[in-house]
Amino acid sequence: MSDKPAEPATSPEIVAGNGLLHRRLFLTQGAALVGTGGLALLAARPAGAETLTVPTWTKTIGAPMSGYGVPSKHEGKVQRIVRPGAPGAPGTGGSRTPLELVNGTITPAGLHFERHHNGIPDIDPAQHRLVIHGKVKRPLSFTVESLLRYPTVSRIQFLECSGNSALGWAREAPQQSVGSIHGLLSCSEWTGVPLSVLLDEAGVEPGAAWVLAEGADSAAMSRSVPLAKALDDAMVALWQNGERIRPEQGYPMRLFLPGFEGNMSVKWLRRLQVNDAPTMTRDETSKYSDLMPDGKSWLFTFTMGVKSLITSPSQGFRMQGPGLYEISGLAWSGAGKIRRVEVSADGGQTWGEAALTDPVLSKSLTRFRMAWRWNGGPAILKSRAIDETGALQPTRDELITQRGERSNYHYHGIQPWSIAATGEVTNVHA
Ligand code: CO
Repeated sequence: MSDKPAEPATSPEIVAGNGLLHRRLFLTQGAALVGTGGLALLAARPAGAETLTVPTWTKTIGAPMSGYGVPSKHEGKVQRIVRPGAPGAPGTGGSRTPLELVNGTITPAGLHFERHHNGIPDIDPAQHRLVIHGKVKRPLSFTVESLLRYPTVSRIQFLECSGNSALGWAREAPQQSVGSIHGLLSCSEWTGVPLSVLLDEAGVEPGAAWVLAEGADSAAMSRSVPLAKALDDAMVALWQNGERIRPEQGYPMRLFLPGFEGNMSVKWLRRLQVNDAPTMTRDETSKYSDLMPDGKSWLFTFTMGVKSLITSPSQGFRMQGPGLYEISGLAWSGAGKIRRVEVSADGGQTWGEAALTDPVLSKSLTRFRMAWRWNGGPAILKSRAIDETGALQPTRDELITQRGERSNYHYHGIQPWSIAATGEVTNVHA
């Protein structure tokens, strides 16, 4: 198994085993695919004059404008994958972004994953308050209206639950879609007030090192945040993809901690208490802690590891015969920008470098693409990401060697998809 991309093979377009082609084909223009080395796109058919008939919708007047648009009625299957928690507790559990049914890097707000610990509170923004107190010179109370007067910043960043991809720890590879396994992952443009501005106004006292963030939901979800993070790139977010944050994302405001496990970006934020030590809340001790093989747990594991996924093709897809395909997927890291993504079509024996779609942003989703000429035989597709710190996404075996099999959190191993000669795509541990 080679750690370096394979040397160019027989054809100049081939960069790795089993048909992977040079990323130049995507970096220049898609049209370059046609006519290079005998490649031909599969999907289009020769157009005859008889195919260009005038359809009904061209001959009738279309629908009028609307106050708030919704997706096409033909896209009704594009839904979050809802996973209720315990019976009798419908507000507890999560829903996942259907990663195999979306493209680009921005998640529509209505498809952003959810994780609630006791349902979505129905908050009147006129009555909601955010209080900053504890080890500060001036305890402060903010209304939504008063927060809207502060200077704002906007950033495109991912949010990932630390329980995302937890099925990766299971011994059997689950036959579920990429969204079903890995969809506790979304990316939005978040707009809000830098938390450092608000803490500066309150005046943090010497010796303070942590901030307790508490939500207004009936679980009073709360986490301890290092003061250094709160003063770095933390935000009190009020807007998501241009609109006010939706109820299930924390309306009227949430904490947003770029690159940190999603649970810490506390929704429905009502209180920030500056402390000199972590509070040891339920959600940072019995939950969201990482059980090690020796029975001890790691606490306060915040940063999401470097990770990538091939979203197309992925489990449940069916290949449409041999020929040219675009392999497409997502890469991200809680530590910063993605430097490079490599793809293998031979189970990791050789790797080729994928094209990254601009912009490549820090702590954001990066879309990668790779051209692949499938010969119709068995193949195992993998992707692996390297971030700007040089961290390389581990294999599943490497992750288990390091962490054991008892954890529920922070799974970021390489995800293989097996392509059978029948065209069937399945999930494998390989
Ligand atoms: Co953690």
